[in-house]
Amino acid sequence: MIDKKEATTDLKSGKSSKSTADYAKYFQAPSLKDAKKRGKEDITVHYDFTIPEEMKQIGKGLHYLIRTYGCQMNEHDTETMAGIFEAMGYTATEDTMEADVILFNTCAIREGAEDKVFGELGHMKHLKRNNPNLILGLCGCMSQEEKVVNKVLRSYSEVDMIFGTHNIHRLPVLLRDAMFSKEMVIEVWSKEGDIIENMPKTRTGDIKAWVNIMYGCDKFCTYCIVPYTRGKERSRRPEDVVAEVRELARQGFKEIMVLGQNVNAYGKDFEDRKYGLGDLLDELRKIDIPRIRFTTSHPRDFDDHLIEVLAKGGNLVEQIHLPAQSGSSEVLKKMARKYTREHYMELVRKIKAAIPDVSLSTDIIVGFPGETEEQFQETLSLMKEVEYDSAYTFIYSPREGTPAASMVDNVPEEVKKDRLQRLMAVQNEISLRKNQEMVGKTYELLIEGESRKNPEVLAGRTRTGKLVHVKADKSLIGTLVHVTITEAKTFTTYGELVTKVEV
Ligand code: 5AD
Ligand code: SF4
Repeated sequence: MIDKKEATTDLKSGKSSKSTADYAKYFQAPSLKDAKKRGKEDITVHYDFTIPEEMKQIGKGLHYLIRTYGCQMNEHDTETMAGIFEAMGYTATEDTMEADVILFNTCAIREGAEDKVFGELGHMKHLKRNNPNLILGLCGCMSQEEKVVNKVLRSYSEVDMIFGTHNIHRLPVLLRDAMFSKEMVIEVWSKEGDIIENMPKTRTGDIKAWVNIMYGCDKFCTYCIVPYTRGKERSRRPEDVVAEVRELARQGFKEIMVLGQNVNAYGKDFEDRKYGLGDLLDELRKIDIPRIRFTTSHPRDFDDHLIEVLAKGGNLVEQIHLPAQSGSSEVLKKMARKYTREHYMELVRKIKAAIPDVSLSTDIIVGFPGETEEQFQETLSLMKEVEYDSAYTFIYSPREGTPAASMVDNVPEEVKKDRLQRLMAVQNEISLRKNQEMVGKTYELLIEGESRKNPEVLAGRTRTGKLVHVKADKSLIGTLVHVTITEAKTFTTYGELVTKVEV
């Protein structure tokens, strides 16, 4: 722990430029350098998570609020933290004025994501005047970066606690420390911890559920901070995953999203068995739940066995998110993606041959250091060749501590923006054409709720993940129906109800 006041005065006055290392004796600070190390230590799976006795009732009459940024992994971590809060007696709120604890579950993937958090954190200061007992906390990927912790120490003295992605199970203890001391509580383990199986979860919604199958990433793509913020690859035991999915099926969930930063590496860390994502999905297929999706795939580890299993269909839907990042083999090499354009296209051909109705989506980064116009053109041609159903497109954002951050970032901002626009224009045209091809055809739709824009209309997704709007009775929310598509736009389609599918 560190005295917030002391830290802020020291660092603000500039008299002594104390680094995080100077404070390390007071608290557990993050280090991206340590996070990079990959050791041989065994990962133990724990089934004995408990809330300390004195914290079990601490939240009675109090409210918590978690602001979540970034990927589905963060959304799912938020569900775990919500579960822990509720096990301590807290009630959820959306109102910052009512909240007694506010957590920012942050994302570090691009600079923009971080700026957003700092902006909103600044808005929280006034809340402390209304409620001096308010606990303000920062967690998630940003808290794994020493530069972020230093910035918070310097300029955000209203923050009471910072904890890392490997410290979520420590939330009750850290909260207690933050409540009963005037000091900022900081606990960020740079190296991954063990797998904690039995933490409580409060899931958002009762139709779709996230199920984590592994943690971390060992790929170290040169632009990416995730292997540093999420630690080494650790897979959950298949029997634990299967038990969780069975329980969700029993509870009536209709769709599972299997989650991991690099799900194709699932099982590589098992020493006692040879077992991969294909094997796991083959087991999940047998569970009586209508739909199973997974994300995110890395093309390098996408093996033939997995394709074979996916081709069996059933509850394994025809949708694969397969980030390409670039269409240029030279850029891919600099990104350390460990595949070429040819290898990627071969994989796409195999997938399309095995699963004819497959819908593919991708992530693309433009403006990577040194990317030439010709190399960018190769990305455009890849998009046209694959014909993705949708694409998430990003401007390269240097992340301190990653290898790409020390490459010369020589693509002018204007050029990056222009490439992004051109990329999006190509993809939008393909998306619209593919949606138009759906018109007149009938699809199975899982109705997920009211349309965000018009509560008179319901919204759902096909097996391939297409958004469909349909006029139907609200009692159909959470059920599978058949719709015939009547109209298509770039990002959505409209349909008419045919029949209800019995499941
Ligand atoms: N800059 C821009 N985009 C990035 N991504 C990851 N790191 C960066 C970065 N430094 C993108 C990749 C990844 C997606 C989740 O975010 O495309 O697949
Ligand atoms: Fe980042 Fe690459 Fe790992 Fe994906 S596979 S999380 S892009 S390092």
